[in-house]
Amino acid sequence: MKRVCSRFFCFSSASSSLLLCLLVSLLSANDGVVRAATATAAAQKFGINYGQIANNLPHPTQVSALLNSLNVNRVKLYDADPSVLTAFAGTGVEFIVSNEDLLNLSDARKASAWVTQHVQPFLPATRITCVIVGNEVLSGAGTGDTAAMQSLLPAMEAVHQALVDSGLDGQVHVSTSHSLNVLASSYPPSSGAFREDVVEYIRPMLDFLAQVGSPFLINAYPFFAYKASPGTVSLPYVLFEPNPGVRDPGNNFTYDNMLYAQIDAVYAAMARLGHADDVAVRVSETGWPSKGDEDEVGAGVRNAAAYNGNLMKRVAAGQGTPLRPDVPVDVFVFALFNEDLKPGLASERNYGLFYPNGTPVYDLGFDDGASSPSFGSLPAASGFPSSKPITVTHPPVLCVLL
Ligand SMILES: *[C@@H]1O[C@H](CO)[C@@H](O)[C@H](O)[C@H]1NC(C)=O
Ligand SMILES: *[C@@H]1O[C@H](CO)[C@@H](O)[C@H](O)[C@H]1NC(C)=O
Repeated sequence: MKRVCSRFFCFSSASSSLLLCLLVSLLSANDGVVRAATATAAAQKFGINYGQIANNLPHPTQVSALLNSLNVNRVKLYDADPSVLTAFAGTGVEFIVSNEDLLNLSDARKASAWVTQHVQPFLPATRITCVIVGNEVLSGAGTGDTAAMQSLLPAMEAVHQALVDSGLDGQVHVSTSHSLNVLASSYPPSSGAFREDVVEYIRPMLDFLAQVGSPFLINAYPFFAYKASPGTVSLPYVLFEPNPGVRDPGNNFTYDNMLYAQIDAVYAAMARLGHADDVAVRVSETGWPSKGDEDEVGAGVRNAAAYNGNLMKRVAAGQGTPLRPDVPVDVFVFALFNEDLKPGLASERNYGLFYPNGTPVYDLGFDDGASSPSFGSLPAASGFPSSKPITVTHPPVLCVLL
């Protein structure tokens, strides 16, 4: 979601580590080996958005320990915070970093300077795998920042060229993240099409992404659709719970959840612009708030735990969408922490899987007393009150899967 804004897309993120561990326990409760192996491979497809619009977050070193304890090995940042990148050196965690300064980045010299100062020094100790240039820049629907929209692709190209010049393009991709507002049509999925007013930007961008082998990233929140129309949108359908599904007469696939329908709508839209098979769609944000304002129907702990937990199970199973069954769904859950300084609706501040003190927002089902990480036992971070220790405890081996 747009980090500050909020039209239709301001949602934040949600909970997932719980889910991860729930998933693990499910797997281990069943037939371990084969499914565990599958889950291990699929674990690569799960990541977390590490947003920092808050004044009470733990030091990145403590966050590194938390993620390590959960075996989460993919993190997306909304900047390229050197203190985070430094804290994760040697951990093997993969990072997606971001830069929204499009006007500067579209200048080749400044793009090069940024890569030289903010990406290159951290490699290879910290594994930076992607730079996201701009977030939801094309979502403006009439109110968009035209200068930013026009700078978007040139900025992506300049950053890519800077990576090429540094010899880093083989390991660091370049992309941008889109809200689903770039679609004029998303239902049924086979009717997916980009908005007329963004096609002029999207078409050359798809050519670029195909050429450099980068994915098309979307921020997708079925929560918004449910909140907007709770009377007509089926809750089980958006929460990945058992439901009859919805048949798409355009391709005869039956969708049993909204997120997959949204992903396939993007594939359909790309196919209309001649990119049916050469650019992958990945989910740079999705999630569900554990709390919202009174009129935010659907926000709450139960639904957040269901959404994120069920999603994690599917990711761990390596599942693809009906249109791309062989391409495992790839998601970054929003978000790691509740972020107290986010403006807007209450939900905005409650997408986190964790409270700032490291306590899970929902019960992960791992309070078995096994060794657990605790901020309290880590070196105190200056300026961060270390309140309660993390209570998430989990069998380490199980959580390796996630
Ligand atoms: C853009 O670059 C200028 C000069 O290089 C710098 O002063 C400015 O802070 C940059 N803008 C942003 C938003 O970082
Ligand atoms: C969907 O199924 C119907 C009925 O079997 C068939 O007539 C139609 O051609 C199919 N459409 C597609 C796109 O496969």
